[in-house]
Amino acid sequence: MHRRDKLSPFLVMDLLAEAQRIRDVVHLEIGEPDLDPPPKVIEALERAVKERKYFYTPSLGLMELRERIAQFYKEKYGVEVSPERVVITTGTSGAFLVAYAITLNRGDRIALADPSYPCYKNFAHLLDVEPEFIPVSRETNYEIRPEMLRGRKVKAVHISSPANPTGTLYSEKTLKDLADYCEREGLYLISDEIYHGLVYEGKEHTALEFSDRAIVINGFSKFFCMPGFRIGWMVLPEDLVRHAEIVIQNVFISAPTLSQYAALEAFDYDYLEKVRETFNRRRKVLYEGLKDLFEIEAKPQGAFYIWARISRYSGDSYRFSLELLRKAKVAVTPGVDFGRNGTEEFVRLAYTKDEETLREGIERIREFLKG
Ligand SMILES: Cc1ncc(COP(=O)(O)O)c(C=O)c1O
Repeated sequence: MHRRDKLSPFLVMDLLAEAQRIRDVVHLEIGEPDLDPPPKVIEALERAVKERKYFYTPSLGLMELRERIAQFYKEKYGVEVSPERVVITTGTSGAFLVAYAITLNRGDRIALADPSYPCYKNFAHLLDVEPEFIPVSRETNYEIRPEMLRGRKVKAVHISSPANPTGTLYSEKTLKDLADYCEREGLYLISDEIYHGLVYEGKEHTALEFSDRAIVINGFSKFFCMPGFRIGWMVLPEDLVRHAEIVIQNVFISAPTLSQYAALEAFDYDYLEKVRETFNRRRKVLYEGLKDLFEIEAKPQGAFYIWARISRYSGDSYRFSLELLRKAKVAVTPGVDFGRNGTEEFVRLAYTKDEETLREGIERIREFLKG
């Protein structure tokens, strides 16, 4: 099969094209924050423009920003990371591509949770790497656990915590067990930590607390509310940094310069706590409003999603989403976008809108389900 035919479209984008033709839609499908970044970010961006900071940076990123991110690991997790191991990337999306490129060869297998963020498998396909889907469910809190990997010939494991689409968080124990297992078996552990900071129950741990060999990927698109700045980072084991540099030199040259200057001011913890509180209030509104309408198997602990089982009403999440859009003017993401493991019985709802809009969405869904 041609490589390009292995890539799957994001079905929700097709739904969105339909949504754009309908007026007054409540959008609960959108996976990006609607809040502003810390005000100092905008000031830094304006300053950078005035000071003509629009030339390439070194491929690994501005040293000042790499140092600031290393400091973040110390402040948030108490982990010492050398700035030399921090690599600035074009979003976490750019980081996934680089991480896969420097660790995996054609035909190698990478373990991915099913359900999980749809783009992971497509990055694998782009590099002729084989995704190996590990079915996860409420029984294991949607985690990939070491025993689920035994006997599988994978070279890497890619996890995300908090996870998209379930909003679930890896426990400290599972993360540690998985990190130990990967070190022992010589597997790469790739940990997508982009929803860190947006955690409302429990506490997030970075894989770096448990392994220096973990490849940790994070970015500014979610908690820091800077999705369009297209900037992220990864922390690599020392011996991989030079390989990453060579890929970035060729593929990206450097991450966006203006965004790097702006990101220097993103670590405004007081402001970011207000972001977290806002999403937490919204989470409660949406969860309380939906919990009697759908079966919500895992109460979301982080990110900004609710993974709701619709099997009382339908076994076809795409059709259900389309009808909900047409009849009730509420857009959600069909579960089938995230995998094949029973996903046709789920939809994902995002609380990236204000509370009033969420309440309106809940009312419309309630009316729709009365049928
Ligand atoms: C789990 C996960 N990782 C990564 C991304 C991509 O983020 P970025 O804007 O950093 O490329 C998303 C976006 O929705 C996501 O849900």
